[in-house]
Amino acid sequence: MSKLTQLPAWNALWQHFAEAKQLHMRELFETDPQRAERYSLEVGGLFLDYSKNRLTDDTLKGLMALAREAGLPARIKAMFKGEKINSTENRAVLHVALRNRTNSPIMVDGEDVMPKVNSVLARMGKFAHAVRSGDWLGYTHQPITDVVNIGIGGSDLGPLMVCSALKPYGHPRMNMHFVSNVDGAQLKETLKKVHPETTLFVVESKTFTTQETLTNALTAREWFVSRARDEKAVAKHFVAVSTNKKAVAEFGIDPANMFEFWDWVGGRYSLWSAIGLPIMLYLGEENFTELLNGAHIMDQHFYNASFEENMPVLLAMIGIWYINYYGGGSHVIAPYDQYLHRLPAFIQQLDMESNGKQVCLDGAAVNFETAPIIWGETGINGQHAFFQLLHQGTHISPIDLICSLENRTSLPGHHEILLANVFAQAEAFMRGKTADEVRAELTAQGLAEAAMEALVPHKVFGGNRPTNTLLMDRLDPRNLGSLIALYEHKIFVQGVIWGINSFDQWGVELGKQLAKTIHAELSGKLKDAPHDSSTKLLIERYRHANRH
Ligand code: F6P
Repeated sequence: MSKLTQLPAWNALWQHFAEAKQLHMRELFETDPQRAERYSLEVGGLFLDYSKNRLTDDTLKGLMALAREAGLPARIKAMFKGEKINSTENRAVLHVALRNRTNSPIMVDGEDVMPKVNSVLARMGKFAHAVRSGDWLGYTHQPITDVVNIGIGGSDLGPLMVCSALKPYGHPRMNMHFVSNVDGAQLKETLKKVHPETTLFVVESKTFTTQETLTNALTAREWFVSRARDEKAVAKHFVAVSTNKKAVAEFGIDPANMFEFWDWVGGRYSLWSAIGLPIMLYLGEENFTELLNGAHIMDQHFYNASFEENMPVLLAMIGIWYINYYGGGSHVIAPYDQYLHRLPAFIQQLDMESNGKQVCLDGAAVNFETAPIIWGETGINGQHAFFQLLHQGTHISPIDLICSLENRTSLPGHHEILLANVFAQAEAFMRGKTADEVRAELTAQGLAEAAMEALVPHKVFGGNRPTNTLLMDRLDPRNLGSLIALYEHKIFVQGVIWGINSFDQWGVELGKQLAKTIHAELSGKLKDAPHDSSTKLLIERYRHANRH
């Protein structure tokens, strides 16, 4: 049996749940006019309203007791101190060092990591400045106009999400492109849009062994050399970001053109490191620093605030309440902001690759649910697609509604409509609509009794569906930094409660291994490896279709 399920607080919460599950948020709001004030808080430019959740003071008390009994205070300290909390890889977990704006020493293996962090940041700044100012010239002495980032997973989603989110801050000359898929279609379509003389390729891979990235980078390099007709020109158009200097050199990128990071930066936590180079190229050093500042504000808050007033801890523990007690295994990220359209995909990797685990740190199987399925879309589009299920389906899926108070476009009228929908959805999810309310509405429309009664069950909304509303003053680099750090820490807290390692990802390995063998078979380098009949059939059909 896992340690978690033996904790007194875990079991006390089950007793509390037996009563709490009967509660409806409507009544909770009716009986406590101060509920929204009491269940909301502000950190930097972020405001969280968590009042529309199925909780009472007793629930929160129980959840915070659970956090303490699960050892959260010590684990937070251990992470910030640089202890090797990623035990299966024997690594520290120090994305917080990358935005440690106070510059206080953080030791790993007896060495302060801050001088390295600062020196890479300075190199990135210098390079970004040269490219943005037009001092860095391509092989025909023209400034760079297009940046193509080649990477996948954490080496793609973070920079892509941030560059999309902060487009209004982007350099007007710079067009950003992201190639992650090994399906040649993505690279092919990207190369159609760029010119070799004015394009900078940033090859990003923590390991520099990822097949998708290396394949895309190799093809891009061949495309470039075939046009530049000069191998030496590569130095002006290809840079790498990695922890693996040797592999970068073997690939044919001069290590002088490499920006380094370290094994204590997890891939999905790496946008603050040199992996953020495309962000800096697009937004400039100042805005990148603001992103770091915003994350640092959240780090400090997470480290110092009491759990009861700690935004990441609250979000995490409320999540635990639904996942483990209500059995709600999914969580929706719904940004009401077009610029944040890649946020759901980013959080999906962050959460599911971190906490999609089935064993505890000691190797014992878990006997409770872990990471929820994270999904989502811009909220307004979701309303016209899948929100039906969220309102009237059989699942309980908490929703994070995220928006910015400030209108960033000059188009009149749009922002009010957008925000009206955010607030209306949160209200509808909470209140629902009772049978009596439906009857009153239909009577007012003059519907006959029998027709009305037939319609009533279909038009009833149970309500009591949880949402968190996150308001940003504005979507700027600082607030985005805080928002991302908020989710990073929320996920960390949940991992601590479950006693799992949030920082490895062994689950992605098996598919990679098998793909190597099958690739050899598909390309004719290997005859027939042993497979099940289904896999054999699929391979056979591919061979048949591609027989020339
Ligand atoms: O296969 C999963 C993964 O290792 C992610 O964790 C990582 O973000 C991605 O692949 C890319 O890895 P790399 O940066 O080493 O190319």
